[in-house]
Amino acid sequence: MTPDLVVRGGTVVTDGWAGAADVVVAGGRVQALVEPGAVRAADELDATGRVVVPGGVDPHCHVGFTSGGFTSLDDHRECTTAAVAGGTTTIVDFAIPRPGEAPADAAARQRAKIGGGLVDSALHAGVMEWDAATAEQLRQLCDEGLRTVKMFTTYRGESMADEDTFLRVMKTLGPLGGMVVAHCEANHLVEEQQAAQAAAGRISAAHHHETRTELAEDASVAEVLAIAEALGTPVYFVHQSTAAAVDQVATARRRGVRAYTESVAHHLVLDDSLYGGPHPERFVCCPPLRPAATVAELGTRLVSGAVATVGSDHCCYDTAQKTSVDHDVRVMPNGLPGVETRLVVVQDAFVRTGRIPWTRFVEVTAAAPARLNGLHPRKGSLLPGSDADIAIWDPAVERTITAGALHQATDYTPYEGRPVTGWPTTVVVGGRVVVDGGRVVDHTARGRFLPAAPLSV
Ligand code: URP
Ligand code: ZN
Ligand code: ZN
Repeated sequence: MTPDLVVRGGTVVTDGWAGAADVVVAGGRVQALVEPGAVRAADELDATGRVVVPGGVDPHCHVGFTSGGFTSLDDHRECTTAAVAGGTTTIVDFAIPRPGEAPADAAARQRAKIGGGLVDSALHAGVMEWDAATAEQLRQLCDEGLRTVKMFTTYRGESMADEDTFLRVMKTLGPLGGMVVAHCEANHLVEEQQAAQAAAGRISAAHHHETRTELAEDASVAEVLAIAEALGTPVYFVHQSTAAAVDQVATARRRGVRAYTESVAHHLVLDDSLYGGPHPERFVCCPPLRPAATVAELGTRLVSGAVATVGSDHCCYDTAQKTSVDHDVRVMPNGLPGVETRLVVVQDAFVRTGRIPWTRFVEVTAAAPARLNGLHPRKGSLLPGSDADIAIWDPAVERTITAGALHQATDYTPYEGRPVTGWPTTVVVGGRVVVDGGRVVDHTARGRFLPAAPLSV
């Protein structure tokens, strides 16, 4: 096939390898990585002095997410515009059932929106309670390509599931090549702490971090990990925010348990001192931001290899939604916007500073998220046959993050005023240039639903 596009002159980083190569694109896919200058095409992108990586895969991205009385403000077009502007070319969204809604109905509802996106999306399903239909629903979801199922040990009356439900879902999913993705915070400990805080008049956003303790997270991880180990099924822990939680997973892996840690960008670079600032509500997420010492310890786990993936846990609420109930964190909308800033803050904090190489950055932000969601090597790779989703980073460009310059459908960013060096200034999606010179230049909705293959993790 005649090449449509050549990305030439850059340093390519993919699949644990980094070196000088040109990326040849044909029919929306990577055709070959070749010696610099070996192949010419009518369309060429000059990547001299740039780093050429697979577009990011965000394994944790809530689009138009309803929880409690609030719905986050973006749709797929808005969320994926922000994603691609920040170098992410695949997102994994969530189909969390509303109370009383069947998992397959939630999946159909959320899947219907994907076509409005600028990039492709996969979906995590969700199960809250087990009934006579759940096993068949899970089989149907796996057949449709939803093989990862988010479950929560917190948010009573909303999305919390009990241990029996965890066990049954894991037992059913294992043979189907599926996996539970677990949000772990021991709800009884959280509620006990919240009640004590409320009695002491310390339940506003400024006290959020005091209501959801590291102990509550660690205890819940131990419980869910034990179920997975007993059943021999894989399990993925979303947004782990404590070193002790990550270490439990790493220790379990050493005895053969297929357990994986996801960290999210805000837990790696922001700390709980922000709850003492002028906008504590803007940082209310679960688990909360942790003390600086914990943030530092989490960073060492990213460096050491204990952290498998870095997601965003993007939730696009705005300041008005957050402040409307900021006197009581028990009813606040949880979650931070971050799909656009995930890669740039992690690159700046860990690659630019020399703490991790580009190969590991690509592993945790693209390849491993793709693999753990049944999307690799179509996504998260630049090897021949992969979708031609390519982010070309200028590692020298200096920017200051401000909400006004971002595309996220909200009025704030948790990183307001943060200087970063390095940005994905050109982004190719399916062989088409969608971001050029740092601007989104093609707004065509080409988003496809990505069915997950059976996981071999
Ligand atoms: O605070 C968070 N993380 N909100 C989004 C929902 C979830 O728990 O992932
Ligand atoms: Zn969660
Ligand atoms: Zn989340």
